Amino acid sequence: MVGSAYPSAPGGFAGRPCYRRVIAAARTQLLDGHGRAISDLRLSVTDRCGFRCRYCMPAEGMRWLDRADLLTFEEIERLMRVLVQMGIRDVRLTGGEPLVRRQLPRLAAMLAAIPGLHELALTTNGYQLERDAHALIHAGVTRFNVSVDSLQRERFSEMTRRDVLDKVLRGLATLASFPQAHPIKVNAVAMRGFTETEVIPFARFAREHPYEVRFIEFMPLDADHAWTPDDVLSGEEIRAAIHAVYPLEPEPRTPSATARTFRFADGRGRIGFINPVSEPFCADCNRIRVTADGQLRTCLFSLRETDLRAVLRGGADDDELEAVVRGAVWRKELKHHIGDPGFVQPDRTMSAIGG
Ligand code: 5AD
Ligand code: SF4
Repeated sequence: MVGSAYPSAPGGFAGRPCYRRVIAAARTQLLDGHGRAISDLRLSVTDRCGFRCRYCMPAEGMRWLDRADLLTFEEIERLMRVLVQMGIRDVRLTGGEPLVRRQLPRLAAMLAAIPGLHELALTTNGYQLERDAHALIHAGVTRFNVSVDSLQRERFSEMTRRDVLDKVLRGLATLASFPQAHPIKVNAVAMRGFTETEVIPFARFAREHPYEVRFIEFMPLDADHAWTPDDVLSGEEIRAAIHAVYPLEPEPRTPSATARTFRFADGRGRIGFINPVSEPFCADCNRIRVTADGQLRTCLFSLRETDLRAVLRGGADDDELEAVVRGAVWRKELKHHIGDPGFVQPDRTMSAIGG
């Protein structure tokens, strides 16, 4: 249970048993074959999006999933109940753009009510936050990541192919007006030849607003298959550029975290770096993904998927569903092979996988 009605501490109050732990332990902890406990799920609710970010979608001609193939809210809720019983504690709703899915706050409320769920997070492009922030918080979403790749109007529109920076920033401000939404993360994909001039403005932004800005290294998940290693602006390069102007101090890394975080030495704000290409963090990866059409992916870069939709729609009971998930997760990839000879980019783009 997340949201305001119950405490969200993992095992209940200190020292006291909690019925939620009992329910959550009804099935044994989900493990992969490399000894990693899996506790984090990225759940894509749609592959659609109104933006056409260069690192994600083509300018035109994107083909969408059939609506009939998307998991219904009821199917998602059933799957989540079983996964939470298996030790999934954090769920992030992603897309495409999740707020394109009608009645997303209703789904959020259904999921927030699942006993044993700890965090319910959302990654969004921010376009509909003015409209939806209140409903999402009321539904029990506890964490927000908003994608913003530039703070300059023309450059934002160059990257997303949509001239809507003002609306996104208004959405961010609406979100920030809710104390429960904090800490808010702002994600910027870092691309060489684009992001260099954004770095200092973003550092200033992180110092002046209550947002943790995080730079994400560009990964080979673009629709155009145009990624090359040269297009990656590494987190270390960005960190050094910021440090030269605003000194930074490292914070300890929490286990399974994707981001390396730093605080500004003068105490004004924080900044983070997600460096999957230059500093892979596969070794303690605790994540799996389910696409909007119900395919379980055990890595962003998986080349095979497990069809949970067929299981859900085929009359299987929860124990059978559990067995299919367990088998697939056991075979989770040890690591991604970006940059290795023979690396094969998955067919799906980021928008069809879920970030
Ligand atoms: N490389 C890195 N990050 C990406 N995202 C989308 N495509 C890519 C890519 N090719 C990010 C978005 C968003 C999250 C869902 O994933 O900016 O923050
Ligand atoms: Fe849409 Fe996000 Fe892909 Fe941009 S990165 S096109 S906002 S799904």
